[in-house]
Amino acid sequence: MLQFQNSVTLCLPIGTVERILMRRKSIIRLENVSTTYEGERRPAIKKVNLILSENELLYVVGPNAAGKTTLLETINGLLQSSGGHVFVFGLDVRRHGRKVRRELGYVPQDFMVNPGEPYTALDIVMMGRYGKIGILHKPDKEDFEKAMEAMKHLGIDELADRSVGKLSGGQQQKVMIARALVKDPKVLLLDEPFSNLDPDSRERIPKLIARIHGKGVAIIIVTHDVSRILKQCRRVVVMKDGRIVADDNPERALTVFESPLISHPTEAIP
Ligand SMILES: Nc1ncnc2c1ncn2[C@@H]1O[C@H](COP(=O)(O)OP(=O)(O)OP(=O)(O)O)[C@@H](O)[C@H]1O
Ligand SMILES: [Mg+2]
Repeated sequence: MLQFQNSVTLCLPIGTVERILMRRKSIIRLENVSTTYEGERRPAIKKVNLILSENELLYVVGPNAAGKTTLLETINGLLQSSGGHVFVFGLDVRRHGRKVRRELGYVPQDFMVNPGEPYTALDIVMMGRYGKIGILHKPDKEDFEKAMEAMKHLGIDELADRSVGKLSGGQQQKVMIARALVKDPKVLLLDEPFSNLDPDSRERIPKLIARIHGKGVAIIIVTHDVSRILKQCRRVVVMKDGRIVADDNPERALTVFESPLISHPTEAIP
């Protein structure tokens, strides 16, 4: 029972207010979610429950084929769940996938750009602004400034006019990160974002991600490199065989690697 200042009394079933508040605060919410690829019998992720609050930084780790990429693509609606419900910003992703993706930055794992691709690096970064610009309008000065600023942060502003297909794997990865950032996203999903980066970039880009997180953006990072988990991280999810087998602070979550549940050699947090 709720008693307000103006003496209006509301009678609600027990737990209703908590549920409403939880929904409002959670920016991503998965309820019993399973995703099965077309032509497959077994789901790649199974009955996953996960809540991400605004401004949370979450790492997802686990061996190959654990379902990490499937999880990210189910969250952004590129893959449709075969069971359960996915809500992002309170919207059901099945019905509002496009709207959700407009506010969400996604850096996919190991994408390949055709060497004959006609677009420049700047064109690709600018694509991140299209949701804001609208299909009937052209990018304006502010859009160009935002795109160049993001490229500068990633140290690739000098590559702006180069054909994206002719850039190295690491340079292309930075272009994709810049594309996700120019959206000014409320949520960032990064799938192995450091895999192709040189040591200097592996130092610099996590710092950039930490700054973005400091501005209030919720971030999920899938990584195999647990030695580089940011110190701001309070939560790690471990996946195995399509299921979440640990969801805890980094130290506790990563102890699951020591159990026979996961036979996957990994580095520990320093
Ligand atoms: N397009 C697809 N069609 C059918 N099965 C798929 C497809 N993509 C992935 N899978 C299967 O789904 C399961 C989960 O794959 P997923 O790519 O999500 O794993 P992952 O944890 O991201 O692995 P990695 O660390 O290697 O990137 C695997 O068994 C994989 O074979
Ligand atoms: Mg993957």
